[in-house]
Amino acid sequence: MAGVPIERKAETPSHVAIIMDGNGRWALKKGLPRLAGHREGAKAVERIIRAAASTPGLDYLSLFAFSTENWRRPRAEVEGLLSLLKTYLRSKRDELVENRVRMVFSGRIDQLAEDLQDEIALFEKATARGDQLTVVVCLNYGGRQEIVDGVNRLLRKGFAGEVTEELISANLYRPGIPDPDLVIRTSGEVRISNFLLWGSAYAEFFFTDTLWPDFGEEDLKKALDHYSLRERRYGAG
Ligand code: FPP
Repeated sequence: MAGVPIERKAETPSHVAIIMDGNGRWALKKGLPRLAGHREGAKAVERIIRAAASTPGLDYLSLFAFSTENWRRPRAEVEGLLSLLKTYLRSKRDELVENRVRMVFSGRIDQLAEDLQDEIALFEKATARGDQLTVVVCLNYGGRQEIVDGVNRLLRKGFAGEVTEELISANLYRPGIPDPDLVIRTSGEVRISNFLLWGSAYAEFFFTDTLWPDFGEEDLKKALDHYSLRERRYGAG
């Protein structure tokens, strides 16, 4: 029996999500402290935001910046990472506004230090009108926690009926953001690590050995090309 030809679509994913892994190994290879890897990782974030903003059809970029599990790292690294984020937010706000990039945050934000929460609120407000690209910074984020928090939110609202997929989706951290179409993970690890568990149910995955600080526009392009050759069936057979 002749096989059904695979339909190849040249399309751009509307929402790309990235597990930015390998900062530590990048630094180790160069004999530098881990924090130097995170600093270089922040430069890669800038490059990829710029590339994503100029890619027609790419509307959302989610970045796994700090997981609920990352608190278990040495204190100096955790403090260094959070302070790097704060510095990044302070120094990039005007540039992002100018380039019409909206930035929103997703995760247990209310558990972060007050000054970081203030910075985040300012940032979201300042960039709210950006219509070129929406960047979702997943911060103190865990995929299981997002589902648990969503269900608890429903319970707090007094919901006592049958839970549906639509109800859970509507009570996640960022209900207005569509599910990711493509999830990229750098540094050779092939795991989801508690990232966007609910949202990535039908996502395509792209894994690359490139360490995050080395990830550039060409690597993003490769991932987008890989996506455009995939046929998504959504379980329809
Ligand atoms: C994983 O590398 C990376 C992180 C835990 C942090 C990602 C954060 C940044 C890129 C900093 C800037 C972010 C923004 C949004 C400005 P790893 O330390 O787990 O690397 P390893 O697996 O090689 O040890």
